[in-house]
Amino acid sequence: MSLLSIDQLSKNTIGALFQQVQHIALGNFDRETSSGKILIPLFFEPSTRTRLSFETAMLRLGGQVLPVPDTIGLAISKGESLQDTIRVVSAFGDIIVMRHATESAVYLASEYASVPIINGGNGCDEHPTQTLLDLYTIQKEKGTIDGLNVALVGDLKHARTMHSLVKGLSYYQVTVFLISPEELRLPEQLREVLCQRQVTFIETPNLQEILRELDVIYLVMLQHHRIPDPATVVRLQREYYRITPDLLTHAKPDVTILHPLVRREEVAPEVDALPNAAYFRQAQNGIVVRMALLYQMLKGDFC
Ligand code: CP
Repeated sequence: MSLLSIDQLSKNTIGALFQQVQHIALGNFDRETSSGKILIPLFFEPSTRTRLSFETAMLRLGGQVLPVPDTIGLAISKGESLQDTIRVVSAFGDIIVMRHATESAVYLASEYASVPIINGGNGCDEHPTQTLLDLYTIQKEKGTIDGLNVALVGDLKHARTMHSLVKGLSYYQVTVFLISPEELRLPEQLREVLCQRQVTFIETPNLQEILRELDVIYLVMLQHHRIPDPATVVRLQREYYRITPDLLTHAKPDVTILHPLVRREEVAPEVDALPNAAYFRQAQNGIVVRMALLYQMLKGDFC
């Protein structure tokens, strides 16, 4: 089974995956499950964390990784269709992780693949494995997800990490604060998901006014590569959010700062030294979470 959207998962499935993470972290897994199995990373957009942590995860499970070149080195750059590419590479390995700028591409690919596909980010739409590691990190840092006040801050319109995370958080008893400028609001259909699942949420452009209530602050950079007008990017960047040690003196002392990275100006480098800064631990958690996911998928235990 492929993993294309966080919608495919339930709170129970996520809980079972997190239990698998505990076993994986202790080295309690059967290397035979992945021995001789090959991961195919197909990334048509840049990636550091997702690609490399999936590759590390597969190698640490005892499997192998096909050394796939960037798009320019693939026949797709001389006109081969995505459908034919997927049909062909499906025969070269056991599981594909794919990132593509077009939202529908991973769904199209899943129709032509003969092996499971994991969505490693499809345009502005979703990034389900980022959400798995985000939820895992919240649970690990705070001891629980239920009962927390979680702020999602910044470009809620374009950030796929936010879109998947909103859906993932909606399985828990949380209060969600949606903090963005008016023109970067969370899309309507995702606000409807929160309403349908009876999640309490509050929208405001003003981070400072609710800062003291927050247990978790999850920021993203302005998704400048998704905004066509350079003048708009400059204006939005000028007015964007910025977490500093000074600002955090007005927050709960144990507030947790998360970020999927790439980090630009929205988190000052001086924050990195604070115990609240969990974003590098978050990136590191990506390896065990993706190991557990690959392991379950290769065993046929997933979902
Ligand atoms: N968090 C994340 O998706 O990072 P990359 O773009 O480096 O994969």
